[in-house]
Amino acid sequence: MNKYEKPGEFYDGLRLHQNENTGGCSPKVIQALAGLSREQLAYYPPYNAATEVCARYLGVDAERLTLLNGLDEGIMAAAIGYLRPTPDGFVPEAIIPEPAFEIFGFDTEIVGGRPVRVAPNPDFSFPLDRVVAAITPRTRVVFLTNPNNPTGVSMPLEAIRAVAAAVPAGAIVFVDEAYAEFSQRSFIPELPAFPNVVVGRTFSKAFGLAGIRIGAITGHPDTLEPIRLAVPVYSVNIAAVVAVQAALSDRAYVDDYLDQVQQSKALLYAACDRLGLRYTRSDANFVLVHAADRAADIVRTAMAHGIYLRDRSKEPGCAGAIRVSAGIIEHTKRCIHVFEEVLCAAQ
Ligand SMILES: Cc1ncc(COP(=O)(O)O)c(C=O)c1O
Repeated sequence: MNKYEKPGEFYDGLRLHQNENTGGCSPKVIQALAGLSREQLAYYPPYNAATEVCARYLGVDAERLTLLNGLDEGIMAAAIGYLRPTPDGFVPEAIIPEPAFEIFGFDTEIVGGRPVRVAPNPDFSFPLDRVVAAITPRTRVVFLTNPNNPTGVSMPLEAIRAVAAAVPAGAIVFVDEAYAEFSQRSFIPELPAFPNVVVGRTFSKAFGLAGIRIGAITGHPDTLEPIRLAVPVYSVNIAAVVAVQAALSDRAYVDDYLDQVQQSKALLYAACDRLGLRYTRSDANFVLVHAADRAADIVRTAMAHGIYLRDRSKEPGCAGAIRVSAGIIEHTKRCIHVFEEVLCAAQ
C-alpha cells in the first residue's frame, strides 16, 4: 500500500478521480512492450535513447533533462535535494500556494523541511503578492503547478518570472507542469534565462502512462544536480523506457485525447450551467465542480454507479468542491448522468 491508498480501497469502476487518461495508453505502447526481449529485461536499462526522445519532445538539450519514475519521484528528489535541515539547525522552507497537489506538503515534511502554505484567492487566480510576501531567507523551494491541480487554473508565466526573481540565492522554483499538454503553455522555453527554475513533466496524464511510471525534469544542470543525486540509480525501468518512446511516436493518439478533453470540458460546463452548478474553468483534463451541500450526495451516487469522483471539499477554498476528470467523452457523459440523477431528483 502506498500513501495514496486507503485500506480496502479497490477501484474497478470508472476512475474519474485521479486525472488519468481513462481511454488507456496508445496501442503502440502495448506493441512496444510486447516486443521486449528477454535480454532487455535481464539488463539494467539504458537511458540515452529515451532521454533524447523526451528532450526532443520538450525542446531541450538532453544534458538538461533527467528521466524520473513518475513526476512524484522528481518532487521527492527536489525535497531531498533542497529541503533537508542542515546539521547547524537551519530548517529550509517550501512555499506551497493552496489548494495544491498534496505530495508537495508530504514530501517537504518527510525530509524535515517546513511547508509554508499560501491561502488561495477566491477565484483561484495566482496569489502572486502573497507568494512573494511568504518568501524568506529560509525559502529553498517554491512549488508551483501550472495549470494547478485541483483547480485547473493557469498562472501567468509572468508570475513565475516574478517568483524566480524574488527567491533568495540557493532556492529553486519547481514548476510542476503535469497538465501542460492540456494548457499548451510551458515555462520550458524560458528556462535558459531562469537558471533557478526547474520544470517537471509527466507522461501519466495526456499520454496515459500513469501505471508504468515515467516523468522527466528539466532545468540548468547545476540546479538539477541536487535533484539528480537524490534520484535512485535505475529507478526508471525498461518497460517505461520503451513505453515512453512508443507513446511519443503516436502523436495522433494524444491529439485525439486532447480533443476529447476539450469536448468533455464543454459538455461538463454545459451540464453544470443547466443544473445550476458552479464550476471553475479548467486548462487541464479535469474540472472542479462546486456542488456546495450536494457534493457528498453526488460522490456517493457516483460511487453507487461505479464511478469514482474526488471530493476536494476539505482543501482551502474548496468547500463543496468535487474534482472530475474530463477526458473520454463517453466517460464524461456517464458522470453527467449522475449529476442529473442527483440534482433533478432534488427538484
Ligand atoms: C500536479 C501533479 N504533479 C505530479 C503528479 C504525479 O505525476 P506522476 O504520475 O508522473 O508521478 C500529479 C498526479 O496526479 C499531479 O497532479
